[in-house]
Amino acid sequence: MKKLLSLLIGAGLLLGAVAANAGPEQDREALIKYFTTKYPNVKLDDYVNGALAFDPDAMAQYREIMSFPPFVGTIEQGKKMWDTPFANGKTYASCFPNGGKDVAGNYPYFDDKAGKVVTLNDAINACRVANGGKPYGLASNEIGVLDSYMRTLSDGMKMNVKVQSPGALAAYENGKKIFFSRKGQLNFACATCHVQQAGGPRLRSDLLSPVIGQATHWPVFRGGGTKVVTLQQRYKGCFKMIRAVPPKIGGTEMNDLEYFESYVSNGLPMQASVFRK
Ligand code: HEC
Repeated sequence: MKKLLSLLIGAGLLLGAVAANAGPEQDREALIKYFTTKYPNVKLDDYVNGALAFDPDAMAQYREIMSFPPFVGTIEQGKKMWDTPFANGKTYASCFPNGGKDVAGNYPYFDDKAGKVVTLNDAINACRVANGGKPYGLASNEIGVLDSYMRTLSDGMKMNVKVQSPGALAAYENGKKIFFSRKGQLNFACATCHVQQAGGPRLRSDLLSPVIGQATHWPVFRGGGTKVVTLQQRYKGCFKMIRAVPPKIGGTEMNDLEYFESYVSNGLPMQASVFRK
């Protein structure tokens, strides 16, 4: 008997749906099984819509906003950045296979030589440096704006993150541990809200999004505004919500967390630059 709903609370770890010693693919499958069993009416692909998938009214509002998004100007600004050649005449497109189309789902990946996780934003910065430019700050608005266009080139691509070496597995496990361990003054784990409580009941007025799908739709624009929020900026907000000190954006912990979250979203379709409450 698989104890999918068994709660293992020990050593500060909160493992709702997954086992402590399971591999990435077992984790992904266990999470999918956990959610699809709990919510048989929500289609797997709809998990990319996060909490909206559990609230038809909010989903209708989302569709309305997305039919004429107030933040198109920001995405256009990102396109301008993407199309502007470096001093040497080359463009960002030259740094990526397929001119940067359908690549975002392959990130983050683990670079065995460097011994660390490389996010798409790290790759953008590597491209800048390779072409004589300076890297953007990983928490900067610039990288978010560039992201808001570049990632749309991968809309519809299925998340396809790989964990293929001992180093990669260690980074994945570290991300998993960060996700499942309780932290902060409120002593919550990411999993408390995004596994156990995901899909309902509401936390104050919020429905909580499930972990699967969470990494597929970045960056977002919140509250009808034009300010871009990257995935790691969102993580930072959640760390602060539970009164934990957020790790540095672009640092090992954030990147490993993104690696774990992206892996368990494998197979789900990406859609960049969406509205969120
Ligand atoms: C106290 C509950 C709580 C905890 C703990 C928490 N979050 Fe959140 N998180 C929220 C709320 C509320 C939202 C906004 C509603 C939503 O989309 O889930 C959110 C949103 C998110 C989103 C965006 C989802 C989307 O579709 O836009 C991500 C990603 C996320 N959280 C990741 C994390 C990670 C990683 C951690 C652990 C560091 C974490 N959260 C811890 C409450 C929490």
